[in-house]
Amino acid sequence: MYSSLNVFSTGFDVSFGTLSTQVYVVVSDVIIWCSLFSMDGDFAPLKELAALRKRHGFLLVIDEAHGTLVCGENGGGVAEAFGVQGHVDIHVGTLSKAIGCHGGFIASSRKWKQWIQSRGRSFIFSTALPVPVVAAAHAAIMVAKKEKWRQHNVWALVRQFSEATGLIFTSPIAPILFGDADAALEASRKLLKMGFHVPAIRPPTVPVGSSRLRITFSAGHTAADVEALVKALPVWAKKKGPSPNFLPTPVSWFPSSLEKVATQKCLHEKHEKVQDKQVRLRPKL
Ligand SMILES: Cc1ncc(COP(=O)(O)O)c(C=O)c1O
Repeated sequence: MYSSLNVFSTGFDVSFGTLSTQVYVVVSDVIIWCSLFSMDGDFAPLKELAALRKRHGFLLVIDEAHGTLVCGENGGGVAEAFGVQGHVDIHVGTLSKAIGCHGGFIASSRKWKQWIQSRGRSFIFSTALPVPVVAAAHAAIMVAKKEKWRQHNVWALVRQFSEATGLIFTSPIAPILFGDADAALEASRKLLKMGFHVPAIRPPTVPVGSSRLRITFSAGHTAADVEALVKALPVWAKKKGPSPNFLPTPVSWFPSSLEKVATQKCLHEKHEKVQDKQVRLRPKL
């Protein structure tokens, strides 16, 4: 369908599947982007991408794996939080994270749905999700819709953790950079002994020299859990303290923070590269 394919990376490793970190793929007719980056916890500049899409007519596909049920008033993801859901052609998501099941989904216009159903190679001959999984996913979405405290709690924990540590975290993915892989691993092991499962993320998942602890907050965590974690951190932080986090300035909190973060961090690093590329018009279906 697309005549040429150009792939550019952000300077971060581009990877897919469970190792996906910051994915930045530009093809001449399609832009595919993670809405909330799985290892850095920052947001894609979706407003800017939506504006570029309007200008150039490319197909915008976003991966909402980490945004679904977490961002947006209705849990619709980062696109909803940024108010650009109508400017994204295809939303890809997983049922395995906030929804707590298995499998994934694609949300799009009817046209794109029909196209994917008849032309999506990996989709066509693949067995559909088992009914119990679909029912469980449906139930999870209903629970999330009714029990808004779950989403609110996650964001309250992010805020509590940021205030307590003095580091700037803008999503429930809260990385603490170490750089050195052994140091991150040592910190992770120490925290595990103290009752905190905080994995050390190392190359090739993240670029060399950017090993980190990846703290993730869920609706199941409590303010007391965060308090205990913050108390546990200085035990090792005294020896090998965490470097300042990614984001340079304090932000106010969800949902307005999302927009600020997008312009602060992502825009400068990534947006320019998009502008530089020649993007041709999307082919007609
Ligand atoms: C951005 C992103 N997309 C997709 C996936 C894959 O999700 P699943 O394990 O449900 O296939 C992941 C998994 O971590 C992810 O981080």
